[in-house]
Amino acid sequence: MIELPGLIDPHVHVREPGQTHKEDWDTATQAALAGGVTMILAMPNTKPPIFDESTLNLALEAARAKARCDYGQYLGAGPANALEVARHARRAAALKMYLDSTFGELRLDDMTLWLEHFRRWPGPGPIVLHAESRSMAAALAFAQMFDQPVHIAHVSLREEILVIREAKARGVKVTCEVCPHHLFLTAPLTCAEGVTPGRSEVRPRLATQDDINALWENLDVIDCFATDHAPHTLSEKDGENPPPGFPGLETLLPLLLTAVSEGRLTLEQLVQKAYHNPRRIFALPEQPETRVFVDETDEYELRAAEMKSRCGWTPFEGWRVKGRVRKVILRGQTVFQDGSVLAAPGFGRDVRAA
Ligand code: DOR
Ligand code: ZN
Repeated sequence: MIELPGLIDPHVHVREPGQTHKEDWDTATQAALAGGVTMILAMPNTKPPIFDESTLNLALEAARAKARCDYGQYLGAGPANALEVARHARRAAALKMYLDSTFGELRLDDMTLWLEHFRRWPGPGPIVLHAESRSMAAALAFAQMFDQPVHIAHVSLREEILVIREAKARGVKVTCEVCPHHLFLTAPLTCAEGVTPGRSEVRPRLATQDDINALWENLDVIDCFATDHAPHTLSEKDGENPPPGFPGLETLLPLLLTAVSEGRLTLEQLVQKAYHNPRRIFALPEQPETRVFVDETDEYELRAAEMKSRCGWTPFEGWRVKGRVRKVILRGQTVFQDGSVLAAPGFGRDVRAA
């Protein structure tokens, strides 16, 4: 048995308010605990998006009633809300800016809209960017101009990780995260039988083996592992216009522990990138008496049917992994044990509560 701190996932799409047929605060936080994650930061591209005081209250009320692990809620940068989000920054996990297309309506096309947010955002959380390739380079230029800490979400390309390496070396306040699917998968997904092309849809897209190799070779530049847990139901993924996104909370730790057992990653690196670094970058509180116990010798196949997420599928169906979450203790309480979530809805705490 190995003992780990409670993991922090800084990139989760909870889907509540608005799309609870995909996931809600209850099922997302059950999936988190089953995956050894005791704290999640929830993205703002819900319906409605979380972009002002009243929508922030809406999300936090749902979380307070239903969350089983600890949480923070992002605010989303819109075309006209820089003043409003800055005013409520202390209650938010961080500010999310979408510079490239994805699921939802929060994209900021005009750079003058970025200026307002970079001018005003006060922290404590960083500005987190969905910014791919050359948009990422533009975001780094803004970080330097405004001396603002930025965190680049879901880095997937060789060119991105190499540019971030250079920016860090030259003193730009940039950190970044990588998702397991960009470390392990190339398109199209072929692992399970009957997979439709819709299952492979995710933003950023799955990249090439060369990109994957570059991420592994530049592990020292990667600050955090984040799931970008983006649940959509199986019928949506297999239907017309499949929405982009993969669930990830319940596969993060088994995949990373397997990489540890294969010597591709050390346990120290895992804990650094899934606990210490997210805690520092997002200025998150300590969770006292919080531990995750994993059986590092348990070999098995990943099965969506055994998972807590409402979405009902995983891009890693049937993958052989080594390492199973046995027990999770959160703030002194046993909240998960041998497949069962024991924390009640509402046990989770807002990490930004005063
Ligand atoms: O694939 C994705 N799905 N990428 C994103 O950036 C958003 C996410 C979602 O919300 O479904
Ligand atoms: Zn996302």
